[in-house]
Amino acid sequence: MSNLERTLSIIKPDAVERNLSENIKSIFSKNNLSVLDSKKLHISKDEAAEFYKVHQSKPFYDQLCSYLSSGPIEVMILEGKNAITKNRELMGATDPKNAKEGTIRKLYGISIDKNSVHGSDSPDNAKAEINFFFRK
Ligand code: CDP
Ligand code: MG
Repeated sequence: MSNLERTLSIIKPDAVERNLSENIKSIFSKNNLSVLDSKKLHISKDEAAEFYKVHQSKPFYDQLCSYLSSGPIEVMILEGKNAITKNRELMGATDPKNAKEGTIRKLYGISIDKNSVHGSDSPDNAKAEINFFFRK
């Protein structure tokens, strides 16, 4: 298969809390993204700050780190053809209000911060983010 990629997906606290993990994973599998590994965990604010350090200069950084550490999350490695772009398409726009019909954020997102999922945005970030949660 050409361009087989891996990417990191996170089901954020708002979606874990509403028991949406299985619904979200079924969207991935219907779209030929397989879950290679997954785990549920509750990270600290310091760990969230490290994970999101590319956003450290943004006005929403502190709130974002508080939010990601506010409850359990599920992190997973997705694999498939063009997995990075495919996952971003399935997620939809950052703000659920702007997300297309059928996307995960349109279906389940509550607001720009409680937008249900994270997905790596480039091959380099996918490697770094997979390593962050799954370094062996
Ligand atoms: O998650 P995505 O890659 O679509 O968006 P981002 O620009 O990388 O921002 C990371 C996360 O910060 C978003 O998913 C939102 O949860 C949050 N955010 C926010 O709370 N307020 C904003 N104005 C922009 C982003
Ligand atoms: Mg991003």
